[in-house]
Amino acid sequence: MRHIHVIGIGTGNPEHLTVQGIRALEATDAVFALDKGEAKAGLLGLRRQICDRYIEGRPYRFIEAADPERDRRPADYGVAVDDWHAARAALYEGLIAEHLREDERGAFLVWGDPSLYDSTLRILDRVLARGRISFTHDVIPGITSVQALAAAHRIPLHAIGEPVRITTGRRLRDGLGEEPGATVVMLDGDPRFEGLDPALTIYWGAYLGTPDECLVAGRLGDVAEEIRRVRAEARARHGWIMDIYLLLRPAA
Ligand SMILES: C[S@@+](CC[C@H](N)C(=O)[O-])C[C@H]1O[C@@H](n2cnc3c(N)ncnc32)[C@H](O)[C@@H]1O
Repeated sequence: MRHIHVIGIGTGNPEHLTVQGIRALEATDAVFALDKGEAKAGLLGLRRQICDRYIEGRPYRFIEAADPERDRRPADYGVAVDDWHAARAALYEGLIAEHLREDERGAFLVWGDPSLYDSTLRILDRVLARGRISFTHDVIPGITSVQALAAAHRIPLHAIGEPVRITTGRRLRDGLGEEPGATVVMLDGDPRFEGLDPALTIYWGAYLGTPDECLVAGRLGDVAEEIRRVRAEARARHGWIMDIYLLLRPAA
């Protein structure tokens, strides 16, 4: 039966790949990579670089396909995501059926780790549920952008014994809430920091793990404008940006 490795590749540094990930790649016949548009060509390039670097002395196929278009301003977010996942499931099914023989191994290279704000595993489950093709799969964990952020700033994520939660920019629009602890914010396309306590400490990072890495840290009220400026400049220069930040409440 076909077997698929879902491999977390880390967040931009080819050396984030684990030894387990390298071993799985070495046994792979076909690598599937979804092209998310020209602006993110660098992300596709990294996947190629990883394959060229780690798959030695063995032929493999690098299968690229265009990611289906997603409605970015839907009336109903849940329905739009479901439609998009359905389109991706159909695409993945076609790619696997066409490019992976019954006795071969394939790999999906997932940015960061597959468990964190990534739909690859849900989509593969959908492919299996459609019942037209079958395969076994395993997951090889990777370094997430959360870990890359903490490492870049050389900090623990939370104070001693405190909780840490991971959320999205969309959810932060409702504020930090009353719960104690630290908050990591991902997928914030337009950080405004409005309505947040200026006394919070923020650790911000973009392009973590890559040569373009940018870091800013400080009291939110003091560095919010700097983050917005650095972010806007970097985004204009690269054509895309991926950034993440940690918010810590002031000590009681
Ligand atoms: C679709 S999620 C994918 C997360 C990924 N699976 C992980 O484990 O980090 C994309 C978000 O991850 C964060 N991110 C991923 N890579 C990053 C990087 N190199 N630098 C900063 N943030 C990154 C950003 O918040 C971005 O909006």
